[in-house]
Amino acid sequence: MTSLSSWRERVEVGAATLFRYTLSVQADPEEKKLVLVMVGLPARGKSFTARKLARYLTWLGYDTRVFNVGEYRRERFPGHQPHHFFDPGNRENLRMRDDLAEAALEDLLTWLVPDGDVAIYDATNTTRERRAFITKHCDEAGVSALFVENVCDDPEIIEENIRATKVGSPDYAGHDPDEAVEDFRKRILHYARAYEPVADDEGPYVRLIDAGRLVVMHDIEGFLPGRVVSFLMNLHYSSSPIWLTRHGESISNVQGKIGGDSDLAPRGHRYARSLAGYLIRGVSEFEEMRVWTSSLRRTIQTASVIELPSTQWRALDEIDAGLCDGMSYREIRAAMPDEYHARGENKFRYRYPRGESYQDVIQRLAPVIIEMERSRQPLLIVAHQAVVRLLYAYLMGIPPEQAPHLAIPLHTLIQLTPHAYGCHETRTPLAPPVPKQQPSS
Ligand code: F6P
Repeated sequence: MTSLSSWRERVEVGAATLFRYTLSVQADPEEKKLVLVMVGLPARGKSFTARKLARYLTWLGYDTRVFNVGEYRRERFPGHQPHHFFDPGNRENLRMRDDLAEAALEDLLTWLVPDGDVAIYDATNTTRERRAFITKHCDEAGVSALFVENVCDDPEIIEENIRATKVGSPDYAGHDPDEAVEDFRKRILHYARAYEPVADDEGPYVRLIDAGRLVVMHDIEGFLPGRVVSFLMNLHYSSSPIWLTRHGESISNVQGKIGGDSDLAPRGHRYARSLAGYLIRGVSEFEEMRVWTSSLRRTIQTASVIELPSTQWRALDEIDAGLCDGMSYREIRAAMPDEYHARGENKFRYRYPRGESYQDVIQRLAPVIIEMERSRQPLLIVAHQAVVRLLYAYLMGIPPEQAPHLAIPLHTLIQLTPHAYGCHETRTPLAPPVPKQQPSS
């Protein structure tokens, strides 16, 4: 099972000998691999929760995959299946559906045991019998199972879920939306007849009631289940956009130097004014907006023109370039060629001497992500190149290893608006444009 661990390595920099401490995600023989078993009636937000969990755990460095039994069904029985296909009284269909669920579980364990860290089994799993079957197979494979049950009796939330995720799904391609909703409601009733909520004697579980208004947990133990639960406790569906931007151009940017805590350069101040003007004129949610910056001068100055209170987070500070702070990439290549090349080899894992790697930055950003998920208000985050890359990768579900190579130009506002299973993106370049910068590696 993966967990955080560290080791020490000797690094020669000119005449000095340093020790590099590396924090990484590594095998921990004590902790078992984990299967998160989704439970709940259709349209209760299971797939939404499963995908959010997968995105968060992947971003933290856990090799995570979702196994969705609905996709197995669509592959075996393509096209629309009317509601009576799901009638538990139809013995033949029930057996076929059980076969599909078993095939998905088998694939899940075949992947998880040798290769993965966390598998998410996304199906209704609404009967004790089905859950006992899953637990038995997980026990035999030597992995832990944790039930994540989504319960919801709020007709408004259910209706919204059906319209947002089911009407446009391949199950109803080409169907009239109102007929699709009607058919889906009948499908839910079939499941409801056989539904048995998870009981305490079935094993550890988290129950999310009415889209996270109430969270109940039972028998949760261990580092990873604890992380899963703390994420779920803060999770809710929000359609409020998140805006990401780097600070305006700084004096260090103009000089081509990395890191530091310089003030904004004249073009950077102009960007701060353009940004504030754009937000007031072009964003209807402006009044409710929360603004977060790092603790560094260039982000605080960028946000200072916006007439809204802002919160400073040290966790949003730029990647710490350690001994290379204040140098240009050209100077690093000349003075520390090994370091320069090592970064080019693996920019995600590379740690600056006495500084940080992108992988380290993820660990310190974890509380920011939790707070971001908890927030119900529109949010503007003014941060730095490496940090915005990582936040953007999280929100867009991009593997974290790719984050160091994402293009996040200065003087560009990125708006990410959540939809059912992801975010819609718009980028707005704002004045003044900045000349192309020298790439780092
Ligand atoms: O150059 C601006 C900057 O924010 C530096 O302070 C930081 O070290 C760098 O970008 C991060 O980008 P990269 O990982 O591509 O070097």
